[in-house]
Amino acid sequence: MADAILETRHLSKSFKGFTAVHDVSLNVQRGHIHALIGPNGAGKTTCFNLLTKFLVPTDGQILFNGRDITNAKPAHIARMGIIRSFQISAVFPHLTVLQNVRIGLQRELGTTYQFWRSERSLDRLNDRAMALLAEVDLSAFADTVTADLPYGRKRALEIATTLAMEPELMLLDEPTQGMGHEDVHRVTSLIKKVSAGRTILMVEHNMNVVSGICDRISVLQRGSVLAEGSYDEVSRNPEVMEAYMGTAGGELGGVH
Ligand SMILES: Nc1ncnc2c1ncn2[C@@H]1O[C@H](COP(=O)(O)OP(=O)(O)OP(=O)(O)O)[C@@H](O)[C@H]1O
Ligand SMILES: [Mg+2]
Repeated sequence: MADAILETRHLSKSFKGFTAVHDVSLNVQRGHIHALIGPNGAGKTTCFNLLTKFLVPTDGQILFNGRDITNAKPAHIARMGIIRSFQISAVFPHLTVLQNVRIGLQRELGTTYQFWRSERSLDRLNDRAMALLAEVDLSAFADTVTADLPYGRKRALEIATTLAMEPELMLLDEPTQGMGHEDVHRVTSLIKKVSAGRTILMVEHNMNVVSGICDRISVLQRGSVLAEGSYDEVSRNPEVMEAYMGTAGGELGGVH
C-alpha cells in the first residue's frame, strides 16, 4: 500500500501450543491514528509486545519504513523511532512534573550530547522540557510533585515523556483505561493533538474515543484480524457486532 510506516506479515505468536496471535497482517499508514480493537483476550497486547520486541514472534515479519525489524532488539527499534507509552516511560512519583520530563530528555540525549557539561546546555534542556509540558497542557503543573497529579494529568505527563524520545510511531495500550469522562475527553484531544506529524497505533476499548479520533481500525478476535476499515465500516460489520455480543449488546456503542 501507498505509504505504510508499519506492516506485519503473517505475524503469529504461540505460548506452549496456544496461539495468541494468528496470521496477523496489519498495514498502518503514515500519519494515521490506527486503532486495534477486539474483545478481551483477542491478542491486542500480545501484538503490541511483538511490535515493541518484548516478545519474539513464532512466525511472520514486521516491517518499519520498509525495513525488516523482525529480529531487532527493543533498544534498537526505540532508537529507530517506535516508542511505546505507559510501559517504557514510567514516571517517578516523588519527582516534580518538570524533573520527570527532563529525565526523559536526558535519557534520550544525555549520553550522546553530554548535556550536563555546560550551564547553557542545561538551560536548553529546561526550555525543551517546558515546551513539551506546554504541548500536553501541563505548564501550570511544572513544579507539582507527580504523585499529586490527577490521574488524567499523569497520563498527559507520560505522553510528554514519550514525546521526549521523539517518536515517529507511538504505541498506546489503552490510554484512557480507568478514566472518568472528563479525563477521557482531555486525553483523547491530547492524543489527537500530538498525532500531528506522527503516527499512532493504539489499543482502545472506548468506542467514543475510537470513532472520534481514529482513521482506521483493525478488529482482532481470537488472535486473528476479523475486520478492517473506518469506524463506520467496521461498526456495521455483522461479524464484528457478533464478536461484541454479550459485552456491548451486539453494538460497538459509539456515538454514531
Ligand atoms: N505469556 C503468556 N503465556 C500464555 N498465554 C498468554 C500469554 N500472554 C497472553 N496469553 C494469552 O493470549 C491471549 C491474548 O492475550 P492478550 O493479553 O494479548 O489479549 P488482549 O486482547 O490484550 O486482552 P485485554 O483486552 O484483556 O487486554 C489470552 O488468551 C491470554 O491468556
Ligand atoms: Mg490487553
